Amino acid sequence: MYYLEIEGTSNLNGSVEISGAKNAALPLIVSSILAKNEVSMKNIPNVADINTLFLLLKNLGASFSFENHEAKINTSTLNNTKAKYDIVRKMRASILTLGPLLARFKECEVSLPGGCAIGQRPIDLHLLALEKMGANIAIKQGYVVASGALKGTDIIFDKITVTGSENIIMAASLAKGKTKLINVAKEPEVVQLCETLKEAGLDIKGIGADELEIYGTDGELLPFKEINVIPDRIEAGTYLCAGAITNSKITVKKANAKHLSAVLDKFRQMGFGIEVKDDEITILPAKKIKAIEIITSEYPGFPTDMQAQFMALALRAEGTSIIDERLFENRFMHVSELLRMGADIKLNGHIASITGTKELNCADVMATDLRASSALILAALFAKGVSRVHRIYHLDRGYEKLEEKFKKLGANIKRLEE
Ligand code: EPZ
Repeated sequence: MYYLEIEGTSNLNGSVEISGAKNAALPLIVSSILAKNEVSMKNIPNVADINTLFLLLKNLGASFSFENHEAKINTSTLNNTKAKYDIVRKMRASILTLGPLLARFKECEVSLPGGCAIGQRPIDLHLLALEKMGANIAIKQGYVVASGALKGTDIIFDKITVTGSENIIMAASLAKGKTKLINVAKEPEVVQLCETLKEAGLDIKGIGADELEIYGTDGELLPFKEINVIPDRIEAGTYLCAGAITNSKITVKKANAKHLSAVLDKFRQMGFGIEVKDDEITILPAKKIKAIEIITSEYPGFPTDMQAQFMALALRAEGTSIIDERLFENRFMHVSELLRMGADIKLNGHIASITGTKELNCADVMATDLRASSALILAALFAKGVSRVHRIYHLDRGYEKLEEKFKKLGANIKRLEE
């Protein structure tokens, strides 16, 4: 097990390159199950979740190469439709294999992902939609056992669900007839999946809107074109937060500012300058870091995946900030760790009040989930002295070359063995 040792710093400088988006690459890799040809993909981040997914695909009988952020995936050799618990439990997005496996093979078994630190994370909406499309779904010994030929139909999601939308978009691609998805997720990662399927010849309308119409191929696999994974908007937002919390000027490169409008707007409201030039975003120091109000919501609203990072940033603001976490019921795991650093945070259900402080104390803290862990690093950059962030395997799931990128910005950060 490793931990990160971080010394508080007065400021950062320079620039970092943003990697491909984990949450775009995951559904895109799974969508290769729908391909009739070998799929070539570029700008894939080399992080633990991606490698876990490739292991799952290998288990199902697919073959692939993955190096230098590029992959070639061949699913013509798929010969197993059981996604086993010991892999799915490591990476809950494995549930994304349910829709495509069922659509292609008309039967499959996928382990229930189970909960995680940030919440119960049910998949009822995924299963309800597949049943509406004609699937027989049973839960047996912790597995979703699905069978049946899928037919297009109208699906209204009770809640906007990112992987639920992605699962059903992929299932509908091979179904017989038209599927209309209402209240569908519009995250950039969902949009890239739809664009990729459209480029492969799928008849899909309403990409990026609240309603999608998909005319399935009735089992005919699709000829995929080469895919270039979009930049990771959450990684970009995290490094911009590092610039903000040290009140420094830093630049993130190979980013897409259009995917971060709500986040950039909050930086501006807090008093930071934001400059965008092509695929580069620069944050400039604030004369006075103002307190902020944030309500997390589905895209294009403020992303829940940036909530923890902005809570750390709010520790440096003048006055009291309010953060209302609307998506997950337990996404404040970072609060108790920040309190150990001397933060003044009060929780009332899903609402946190954060009173800014001039000083934060270094401490040993524990990572609990991917984004909470990055918030602890940000707080450690602001704290006086040397902090240690433990259980950083959470970070390695979604941040590529994390300490190298922070070091490049001038942070004093080391990865050490417990
Ligand atoms: C995706 O998770 C992301 N993961 C999450 O990022 C992100 O936080 C989340 O979307 C919200 O943006 C990937 O894309 C791999 P949801 P997902 O289904 O799809 C409820 C990270 O840090 N819900 O959109 O699992 C659910 O409980 C991760 O990279 C149901 O009730 O999230 C939650 O309250 C963390 N029933 C809300 O909907 C369902 O069947 C949104 O969840 C499905 C979801």
